[in-house]
Amino acid sequence: VAETVGRDVAFGLENARVPRSEIWPRVDAALAAARFPYAASHLTRALSGGETQRLVLAGNLVLDNRLLLLDEPTSMLDAEAAASVRNAIQHEVLRRGCTTVAVEHQLEPWLDFVDRLVVLGPHGEIVADGTPAQVLADHADALAAQGVWLPGLPAPALLPVDAALVSPWEDGPQRLVTATGVGVELRAGLADRRAPPTVALADVDAELRSGRALAVTGPSGAGKSTLVSVLAGLSRPTSGAVEADPRLATRQGTYPWRWRSRDLTARLAWAPQTPEHGVVTASVRDEVLASARACGREAGRAEARADGLLETLGLGHLRGVSPYHLSGGEQRRLMVAAALGHGPHGLLLDEPTVGQDRHTWAAVLGAISAARTAGAGVAVSTHDLLAAKVLADDQLQLSGGRTVR
Ligand SMILES: Nc1ncnc2c1ncn2[C@@H]1O[C@H](COP(=O)(O)OP(=O)(O)O)[C@@H](O)[C@H]1O
Ligand SMILES: [Mg+2]
Repeated sequence: VAETVGRDVAFGLENARVPRSEIWPRVDAALAAARFPYAASHLTRALSGGETQRLVLAGNLVLDNRLLLLDEPTSMLDAEAAASVRNAIQHEVLRRGCTTVAVEHQLEPWLDFVDRLVVLGPHGEIVADGTPAQVLADHADALAAQGVWLPGLPAPALLPVDAALVSPWEDGPQRLVTATGVGVELRAGLADRRAPPTVALADVDAELRSGRALAVTGPSGAGKSTLVSVLAGLSRPTSGAVEADPRLATRQGTYPWRWRSRDLTARLAWAPQTPEHGVVTASVRDEVLASARACGREAGRAEARADGLLETLGLGHLRGVSPYHLSGGEQRRLMVAAALGHGPHGLLLDEPTVGQDRHTWAAVLGAISAARTAGAGVAVSTHDLLAAKVLADDQLQLSGGRTVR
């Protein structure tokens, strides 16, 4: 809600008319408690997804309320950062003796901490309710069948997906986009002019190749989203080059960031880490058709493909609904469907598996994997190491904007 991190966390206290002198010490303490990595003066626009998640937690902790409601509080974090945030939550809860309700897909890391486990079914009904040990002992099979991520289960088998739903519309060259020595410096805006820019990427090489999937991994803030968006042609690198194969050239040349949006869309699709940022229409079905329409794909084929993708990704019954009315996990699947709908050569997907149960996870990765097999070039940024392992032909690990391996 505010320009700087400190003001953002202070917002709740200001609304509660807490005296000024108390606000800043509490803000600093809450940022530290949420393991937030920057000072209170840092701009809120200049944060990665995982950093934003920790900021929101700080804004919640600062209020010192008796009830803490957490909706997938670590979904954008790598395992290490997630564990540190869970420890922070646990510490605060014990310190204050407050009640906490957490909504989670990943049960295992919470099991030692929670006293009560409530499992909801697909229609919001309660399927199981009891102590974690009791629920797991009595309902393990039913929960697994329902797609709950239970400890000890093997990775779900990917859903087989028909190539006709996901293949590139036209054949493309082998090397779609090559990034050479790419550096990206980010500034959050005019207010940030005097401060030095953030070096989000430095000297990174990467390649988007037809028929191959690249997984970009690394801790929160490592530069994963920045790399995926620069490969998608959404921004111009500060140094180095991001260049497409000459066979993909437009009148603007071979630099994707120079292409007109229609040409870019036809060639490369991007699914953002925050799915709301990708929404451009008022219905789920239109959302999947939007890019096909924009780049003049044949309507009948595009519609059949959109409907097939929606069914495959478990969104068929929602086709007439506003994308804003979907759950977080549904919205993310919609962005994957929208990226696949018009059959671009390259798929740049930012954290495509967040918020999925075992079934929808298998569908999302099944669709992406089938697109790759059908000739698309795929790059996913992810902190889901299981997804990276199951999907990737190539891996690129980043830390502090640099390639680790
Ligand atoms: N608009 C921005 N202005 C300045 N810094 C930014 C901006 N967006 C992201 N950053 C910073 O760039 C770094 C890389 O961010 P990002 O690529 O989103 O990381 P990841 O996806 O690996 O979590 C982080 O340190 C983040 O704080
Ligand atoms: Mg990211």
